[in-house]
Amino acid sequence: ASYEYILTETPKPGVGLITLNRPKALNALCSPLFQELNDALSKYDQDKDIGAIVITGSEKAFAAGADIKEMAPLTFSSAYSNNFIAPWSHLANNIRKPVIAAVSGYALGGGCELALMCDFIYCTSNATFGQPEIKLGVTPGAGGSQRLTRIIGKSRAMDLILTGKNFSGKEAGEWGVAARVIDGGKEELLAETLKTAETIAGYSHVAVVANKEVVNKSQELSLREGVEYERRLFHALFGSKDQKIGMTAFAEKKKAEWSHE
Ligand code: HXC
Repeated sequence: ASYEYILTETPKPGVGLITLNRPKALNALCSPLFQELNDALSKYDQDKDIGAIVITGSEKAFAAGADIKEMAPLTFSSAYSNNFIAPWSHLANNIRKPVIAAVSGYALGGGCELALMCDFIYCTSNATFGQPEIKLGVTPGAGGSQRLTRIIGKSRAMDLILTGKNFSGKEAGEWGVAARVIDGGKEELLAETLKTAETIAGYSHVAVVANKEVVNKSQELSLREGVEYERRLFHALFGSKDQKIGMTAFAEKKKAEWSHE
């Protein structure tokens, strides 16, 4: 597919890479960009050869937010009637394969929220995260107040969201927003992220999707319900071909050749 605002490629076996590519606006997330992103995510999610997806931006900006110029003229009525921003939930609600955010530069407002919707984040130490919506007279609108608060706790989230101040990639690592902070610039960041994505994509895709699903359940269910859900899915995987392939390969000291079934 040819897109205007994103680039797609398969730089490693099993890995779909989506690069946000609207450099003139620091990857501000206008509606057409998000439509393209959702389309690319759906295609990779349905592609049997893809096991993991990476979303990245440029060295200077992962994404500087929703498009402020597009939002400026909106009214309550148009935003409500058209359910503005609702398509942004596609990633979190519907994409079943792992999605990793590789964040260099600005990840502000909707850019921070997009990163938080991904399954985990790798970033550079001088990446700049923040929820500056208060400075524009609004609140975060794509889950920032909810996801950030669950990760870093209420006190830190209030401090950040009520002041609109930024936090660094280094802080993101210390607070658990980012899984890893990579030394160097965008190139080193992307290399490390792709390495991780390749590792994930090298496992049984059935098992990968199931592992993502059970971790996500921990965010929605009580501990007891979550543990029971995990056990049921664990049981279900004994119905997959790849469980036999994986366990037989271990016993025979061979490398598993996954069927992804
Ligand atoms: C539209 C944007 C933009 C944005 C940058 N640009 N961010 N356009 N929406 N969010 C445009 C600028 O207007 C400018 O266009 C070009 O990108 C380069 O930006 P500069 O400001 O000249 O760059 P710089 O001086 O380096 O400053 C970088 C910056 C600043 C600090 C990131 O651009 C900035 O503060 N941006 C807005 C950040 C923000 O408030 N984000 C949250 C948005 S609200 P021209 O045409 O002048 O060259 C939000 C709500 C989400 O995301 C809720 C629902 C999803």
